[in-house]
Parts: sequence; structure tokens; C-alpha cells
Amino acid sequence: MDMTIRPRRLRGNEILRKMVRETRVDASSLIYPIFVKEGTGIREEIPTMPGQYRYSVDRMGEKLQSLLDVGVKSVMFFGIPDHKDEAGSGAYAKDGIVQKALRQAKRDFPGMYLITDVCMCEYTSHGHCGVLCGDGYVDNDRTLELLAKTAVSHAKAGADMVAPSDMMDGRVAAIRAALDEAGYLNVPIMSYAVKYASAFYGPFRDAAGSAPAFGDRKSYQMDYHNSREGIKEALLDVEEGADIIMVKPAMSYLDMVAKIKEVTDVPIASYSVSGEYAMIKAGAQLGYIDEEKIICETAISAFRAGCDIYLTYFAEEIAKYIREGKIG
Ligand code: PBG
Repeated sequence: MDMTIRPRRLRGNEILRKMVRETRVDASSLIYPIFVKEGTGIREEIPTMPGQYRYSVDRMGEKLQSLLDVGVKSVMFFGIPDHKDEAGSGAYAKDGIVQKALRQAKRDFPGMYLITDVCMCEYTSHGHCGVLCGDGYVDNDRTLELLAKTAVSHAKAGADMVAPSDMMDGRVAAIRAALDEAGYLNVPIMSYAVKYASAFYGPFRDAAGSAPAFGDRKSYQMDYHNSREGIKEALLDVEEGADIIMVKPAMSYLDMVAKIKEVTDVPIASYSVSGEYAMIKAGAQLGYIDEEKIICETAISAFRAGCDIYLTYFAEEIAKYIREGKIG
């Protein structure tokens, strides 16, 4: 009797392996988050995110061009204002930092797709994602008005899409109504619907100077012990008019990407956040891991889980690896 055990996996070369791949990626699914700040001539490295920079508006074009060169056409703007106040007025100022960046990017890079993060935390003196009530909690309803105002001011300045990340209840409906009323019916909303209160945002808060001055964000961001709550958040946001649902962070939350993909019919975005970037960079700098291979593997795992869109500080690198045939 022949006792040969035949291998279950297909045996063959790289051509065969690529032929039967289940996950394919394309640079058009990538979004690069970029930090813009007031001033001129600035390109300063973010200490906790080596290889990432804060750009003044006059220099952000350097990065936008190198993204375009490898086929990454979508960016998401984060603003670092000079001025902060209780009401976060810099978020919706006509000459706010993001508004200025949008006007310049629209003029210099008409072929790019411009998305904005809509939140108050970079603009409030206390660092919370909305205006505060007397008791130290965020005033949900008053914040909604300001978020809607911010989204409209972004659209006016040239945003192609807005992405509210504040986690206030009812913000998608409020933003949709305000955009429609202002005539921006075609500006979609990508909602940070399933956003966990996460230590993975640590380096971002250094980058944007947006750490809360007191307390934490646990009254408005999600508890990472919960998954059914995330499904509820996603479904409610779709009902309110969200065009795309985002899960954030990526790596430790890919179960949520898979689950939400099952219960909604909108595209799903997964955001590989600052802490994920920092861990890979730190591990690679110490020589403990192979940076390129880890970037490829983590990116593919998000797509394999089912995301359609991947937001990542490694967008340029991933696009290069796709071009070089290392992934995809
Ligand atoms: C704003 C916002 C944050 C991030 C995206 N939008 C910070 C936070 O919620 O504390 C985090 C992004 C990252 O860590 O890369 N609310």
C-alpha cells in the first residue's frame, strides 16, 4: 500500500502561489495621514514616530509628490494649530491650518483626493474631543454644532471627504445635514465608528499635541473589551448616513473588521495608528524584526480581514512594495 502523504498545500513556484492568492492589494486602497502645522519652511521629525514629519503648508507638497510618484493619491489631514481655546475655534476657522492646507493642496495637486479628520482635540485648550460641560464631561450636543461647522468649513476649503473621529453621538447625522444644507451633497462621510479608547494613539498625541489635559477619552471612545457594542456603533452610523465605516486601531482589532463586514454593506476602512507604526519602527531599529517584511505582513492582514481601505503611515512604503511585486 502506498503510504505517501500528499501535501495539502499547492506545491509550486512563485507564479503558482501568486495565481491562487486570495488577497490582492492596490495602492488605490491606501490613505496616508499627514500632519500640517502653522509656520513656514517646517519639516520636523516626530520623535515618537521616526520617519514621520510635521509639515508647514509650504513644504507638505514634498510628501504629497512622493506619494503620488508611487501611486498613493489619497491623504487625510491632521492640523496642528498655534492657537487653542476652550471652544476649539481653530477647527472651523476660515484660515485654520487644515483649511489653508486644503486650499494649497487643491491648487498644487488637483489629482489628489483630500480627506480631513474632523475633531476638536487638536484645537481645544483642554485636549478633549469636544466642548466641556461644567462637570468635566464633553457636552455632546453643543459639540455636534461645532463638528458640523468644522466639516462644512473643510468642504468649503476643498475637502473631498470628511472623517469625524470625535465619537460624539449623532455626529454623522449632524454633519450630513449641515453638508447637504451648504450644498455639499457629494462630500461623503467616512465615520470613525468603531474607535476604541486605545494606548496605541500615544505617539499621535505627541505628534499633534492633543493629549487630554485631564482624564481620558473613555466616556466617548469604546472599551476594548467589547465587540457587540462596535457592531451597534457601526450600524447606527450607517443609518445616520455614513458612507464608509472605519475600525481603529487596526492590528489588534481586525476581528471587528471581519464582523462589521458581515453586517453592513458599506466599505470598511482600517486605520493602522501611530502606536502600531512606532512599534514596528522601534523593533526594526533595535534589529529585532525585519521592518519591510513586518510592514507587508501587517498590511496584508488588514486586507485579509476584509478592509477595503487601509489608512497607514507606511502608505508610501507599501505602495513601493506592491510595485516591486513583494505583496499584492
Ligand atoms: C483625533 C484622532 C486621534 C487619532 C486620530 N484622530 C487621537 C485620539 O483619538 O486620541 C489617532 C491616530 C493615530 O494614533 O495614529 N481624535
